[in-house]
Order: sequence, then structure tokens, then C-alpha cells
Amino acid sequence: MLSDKDRIFTNLYGLRDSGLAGARARGAWDGTKKLLEMGEDRIIDEVKASGLRGRGGAGFPTGLKWSFMPKESDGRPHYLVINADESEPGTCKDREIMRNDPQLLIEGALLAGFAMRANTAYIYIRGEFIRERERLQAAIDEAYEAKLIGKDNVHGYPFDLYVQQGAGAYICGEETALLESLEGRKGMPRLKPPFPANMGLYGAPTTVNNVESIAVVPEILRRGSGWFAGLGKPNNAGTKLFSISGHVNNPCNVEEEMGIPLRELLEKHAGGVRGGWENLLAVIPGGSSVPCVPANQCQELAMDFDRLLEVKSGLGTAAVIVMDKTTDIIRAIARLSYFYKHESCGQCTPCREGTGWMWRVLERMVRGEAEKSEIDMLFDVSKQIEGHTICALGDAAAWPVQGLIRHFRPVIEQRIDEFTANPNPQGAVRAAE
Ligand SMILES: Cc1cc2nc3c(=O)[nH]c(=O)nc-3n(C[C@H](O)[C@H](O)[C@H](O)COP(=O)(O)O)c2cc1C
Ligand code: SF4
Repeated sequence: MLSDKDRIFTNLYGLRDSGLAGARARGAWDGTKKLLEMGEDRIIDEVKASGLRGRGGAGFPTGLKWSFMPKESDGRPHYLVINADESEPGTCKDREIMRNDPQLLIEGALLAGFAMRANTAYIYIRGEFIRERERLQAAIDEAYEAKLIGKDNVHGYPFDLYVQQGAGAYICGEETALLESLEGRKGMPRLKPPFPANMGLYGAPTTVNNVESIAVVPEILRRGSGWFAGLGKPNNAGTKLFSISGHVNNPCNVEEEMGIPLRELLEKHAGGVRGGWENLLAVIPGGSSVPCVPANQCQELAMDFDRLLEVKSGLGTAAVIVMDKTTDIIRAIARLSYFYKHESCGQCTPCREGTGWMWRVLERMVRGEAEKSEIDMLFDVSKQIEGHTICALGDAAAWPVQGLIRHFRPVIEQRIDEFTANPNPQGAVRAAE
């Protein structure tokens, strides 16, 4: 269990002053000038050495990503874009950083911007986050007033930070769709290459990072990469915010050490599974897009990128959705399928057509109104979507369906058998009356 002295987000629950004075009292903006004096390359090396992997879902090493930015400007500005879209179902951690510990994000933006030679950063915030935007803007205004950021700030590195609110589309969390939206167009993912580090916002070198990835940077630099790398496990370093929802007694956000066993995470922080551990049916461990893990694989499950890959799932955003035995797992996954169908931008045929097709088949499977041969067909179609689209929304739509079939085929088959035996139960009741 993470000890309090290793906690980065000391005001995650908003119990203390989230303003600048409170943040400073907790250590934010402490020695930032000294950190900048390390120089661009040493900062990037430290972030690399810390083992920090992106907290937006894909887990790409943050320092490595920063090192893709050009070292010299060819005349174009460089941009840092912070992804605060947070629309992955189950995920609700970035909003708490913006509401309660925003100065960590602002300080991180300055340090990351400096390391990547960006004098301007944008925070792209989810359309529905009205109060979060207000709190964040107030925090940015405070930082400007205190000359911590701005053209002529006490740190000697000109740096402007702007907040741009989206209009509530999940796809705008995908980094290139986000850039399109930021430029004022429809949020449609771009083909890569070119990658944003070469041609991103307004055609200029850009790095897109998640809120949490940026907000942990000041503390990593202050305490040293060795401290962060020493937490968690090799290749899965540091602390992580987990969002725990669903059938637990106390749903919550909590900062924990990467690699904490799932059972410990749920029992120490979320009051355990509703009805006890034995009542667990499955978890979706990383936000709605990762495949579910059935209870029999959860006993020893460690919550990190590599361990979850071994069980054919993923850490994703570390949003843990817990489902107990009262859950109709087919209906739950069908509902997620509807979400992905609804959020597809429609550019690629496999995603546009496939997400709707999967959802319609699953809706029939919820009622048992299907052929057993359609289970394999559904799996095949999900495989034809996965990896065949411009962006990863196609994968995100395919994986929950694959998880359902991999682990709960007998439940689908039983539902089909029940329907076949009694295709119209309502009618039967009425006839008996
Ligand atoms: C459909 C889709 C939605 C996404 N939504 C988000 C999001 O809301 N927030 C986020 O940080 N990353 C999201 N991502 C991942 C981003 O594309 C990008 O990888 C991430 O912001 C990079 O930050 P990181 O390297 O710090 O993790 C999404 C990706 C896809 C494919
Ligand atoms: S995969 Fe889906 S959301 Fe992504 S670009 Fe293609 S159609 Fe749009």
C-alpha cells in the first residue's frame, strides 16, 4: 500500500485549499526555477529514467515521447497539448486533479513545455466539465497573477497556457481528433504519419499528453527519477490514480502504487465487492475499452500494464469497473457496444459499419435471440475491426466484445438455449392467464 509520504496528489478529494496558497503550502512550485535550470535535455532524461508511462490509456513512455520533439525550431512554434477530455467510461481521475490540485498540472505544463521548447500549451477539456473548467481557469489566472507563468514570469521562460473546452465527443480524446477540434474543425482522427511531433497543432511540432502524465512531472523532478522508478515494478513504475466504480461498497478515486493487487485495491480503498469477494463476477480493469477479466483470474491479479496484458486485458486508464454476480454481463457489454457505435466518427468502414453491427447482434444475444454460430461470427467481425481502422476507437469497440466471448460464451449459449426453448415467455404467461 502506498505510504502517505509517497503520495503526489495530496488534495485529490478537495479537503484542503485548492488555491495557489494551499498548493504552495503542500509543495507545489517549490524550486521550479532550479528544476528549469537542469536544462531541457536533462529534464527529458530524468522523465525517461523515472519510467513514467502515459496515463491516458496507451502507456507510452512519456520521456521517450518528449524526445521525439525537434531539438531546434525550424521557425515553427512547438506546442504542448494536454488531454483533459476524459471521456472513457469509468474514468474520473483527471477531473479531480483539475478541480482540487490544478497547480500541479500548471507547474507540470511549464516544465514539460520547457523541456520540449514549447512556449504555448493548450488544455483541451471535456465539454461536460463546466465546473472543472471554471476551477482550472481560476487556477491559471492565479498562476498568471503570481507571475509563475506568462510572458514575463519569475522563472524566466515565457509560457502561455490556454484552456479550450470541447463539445462532449468521446472521439475528441483521441489525440489527432483533439488537434482537429482545437483547430476548429470536426473531431476526426488524422492518418499517421505524419506524427504530431513532426506535424501536429497548426502543422507545428506538438506533443499530446494526458493530465495525470503532466501533473506528476514536477514531483518526479523534485524527488528524482529514482524515487518514482522505485515505486511499482520494473517497466510499471510509480504511483497511479485508480478510479473504482460499479459493484463495490465505496466507489472512489485513489492514488496507489502501480502493481497493487486488485483484491487489495478494492478491499483497502473501495470497501470490497458488494456482497463479498465471492460475489465478484468480473472486472473491467482499465476503462470500458479493455476486455473484462473473470473472477477466477482476479484473485492474484496485479494492477499494472504488463500483468494485465498477460490476462489479455489492459491497464488503460486504470478505471476499474467492478461487476458482481447480479450483472447481466451480455447486457453490460451490449451497452458499451452502443456507446462505441454512437461515438464512432464514421470515417472508416470497419468502425462505422462494424460497431453498429456488433451492437445489433449483442442486443439480440441479450434476449437469446441468436444462433450459436453467430458467437464465432461476432468474434471474427471484432477481429476484422481491430487493427483495421485509422484510430484506436475500432480496437476499443472490439475488445470488450472479445472479452465477453472469451470468458462468458457459456452464458451466451445458455441464453440462446433458454430463448430457443421458450421464444416468447411473455406470450406464454398471457396464454396461461
Ligand atoms: C477513442 C480514443 C479516446 C481517447 N480519449 C482520451 C482521453 O479522454 N484522455 C486521454 O488522455 N487520452 C485519450 N486517448 C489517448 C490519446 O489518443 C493519447 O494517446 C493520450 O492523450 C496521450 O497521452 P499520454 O501519453 O500522456 O498517455 C484516447 C484515445 C482514443 C483512441
Ligand atoms: S476508427 Fe472509428 S472513430 Fe476512429 S477514425 Fe475510424 S471511424 Fe473514426
